[in-house]
Amino acid sequence: MEELIRKLYETGFLEREEFKKLIEDRNEESYEALKKLASKRAIENYGHDVYLRGLIEFTNYCRNDCYYCGIRASNKEAERYRLSKDEILYCADMGYKLGFRTIVLQGGEDLTYKDEEICDIIREIKKLHEDVAVTLSIGEKSKESYEAYFKAGASRYLLRHETANEEHYKKLHPDKLSLENRKECLKNLKEIGYQIGAGFMVGSPYQTIDYIIDDLFYLKKLQPHMIGIGPFIPHKDTPFKDFERGSLELTLYMLAILRLMFPKVLLPATTALGSIDPKGREKGILSGANVVMPNLSPKDVRNKYMLYDGKICTGDEAAECRKCMERRIENIGYKVAVSKGDHIDFVNNL
Ligand code: SAM
Ligand code: FES
Repeated sequence: MEELIRKLYETGFLEREEFKKLIEDRNEESYEALKKLASKRAIENYGHDVYLRGLIEFTNYCRNDCYYCGIRASNKEAERYRLSKDEILYCADMGYKLGFRTIVLQGGEDLTYKDEEICDIIREIKKLHEDVAVTLSIGEKSKESYEAYFKAGASRYLLRHETANEEHYKKLHPDKLSLENRKECLKNLKEIGYQIGAGFMVGSPYQTIDYIIDDLFYLKKLQPHMIGIGPFIPHKDTPFKDFERGSLELTLYMLAILRLMFPKVLLPATTALGSIDPKGREKGILSGANVVMPNLSPKDVRNKYMLYDGKICTGDEAAECRKCMERRIENIGYKVAVSKGDHIDFVNNL
């Protein structure tokens, strides 16, 4: 184990069988060793800075039906909402005043918002505050749409690949969705010039260690600027309601591995991680993560963007979340960075 960890630290990669051993035979000792080296790598590249992204969950309508997701189209229990342009701009402006320099617009695939409307919202946010980076996370679209959003001023796009294994992808999604298209979207986004974020859930139903290694190999090839991973957590009104959630321990282990594989990547300690353990996000940062995404959505819609059961921060005001995050980050010896928080290779580039 020691040798494998050293090799990963020095070269940033392992052979398939080596990854398998590192993950399969993991124990407290190997986690501690990985964590120490991963936080060292993060500090070498980003110091003790933790970047904040203000998340606006602007619609929970979705045309898709991912089996794991609480806002999937077939969930008739979900109370649907969408925010108007003015509401989104209000949240973005409040985010700016609270020190956020990245606004993430996330939602289900809601075709009610036409491309022109999305572009208009992006332009208006940039008009309000030109030093804000706009990140989109609105799913699979055509290359033309991605180009239009980019031209309007969006510079980053989060689209988790979910799993890089075809068989596994089919078990998580209805036939209409394909891994091929997901990958095509990520390729297009990168070609256009976005900073892209890929990622997967840890412990999703039917996931095996081999599938996780497929994810690592895919990410190595893709070279995203951000990697979002968090535990799968069941939602009571989905087909996966009876599956177990992903573990804290494996998620932290994977965060540390990812930091060693991708020393410069932007790596969030996700809300899902914070939802399965009261100190989950802090533990994520100490395992190599360097981004957190507090919620900026209006209080009255937060409990409707329920991707999984037990999601945290659904009853708080944005300002409370911001303060709470700052306190948590400072308590572990890190600090909140008031900057756009670009990938190191993209600094000075909106
Ligand atoms: N519609 C966009 C998309 O598909 O990329 C963005 C919204 S989608 C809800 C954001 C992410 O939430 C997904 O990529 C998925 O990994 C995560 N997610 C959904 N359901 C989840 C669950 N039950 N547990 C943990 N994460 C979940
Ligand atoms: Fe569309 Fe989850 S099924 S956002």
